[in-house]
Amino acid sequence: MYIRTLWTAKAPKHVITITPGSGITLTSPQPVTVNADLHVNGSVTATGDVTGGGISLDHHTHGGVQSGGSTTSPPH
Ligand SMILES: [Fe+2]
Repeated sequence: MYIRTLWTAKAPKHVITITPGSGITLTSPQPVTVNADLHVNGSVTATGDVTGGGISLDHHTHGGVQSGGSTTSPPH
């Protein structure tokens, strides 16, 4: 892993960019793995699907529902 500096000789593949006033950006061509519970004190935004416990936010279905004002059962 490299932290981008003004003195990097060749372009790194994994980059953490810290920009004062704009935040921190982690860029990698490969997945980023966190081997620990992850606690976020703020919202989470994803441009792709999110899967929790094997259930996709984009593609899950609900059972036992009909059109109307009722609420659904948990996603599955
Ligand atoms: Fe749902």
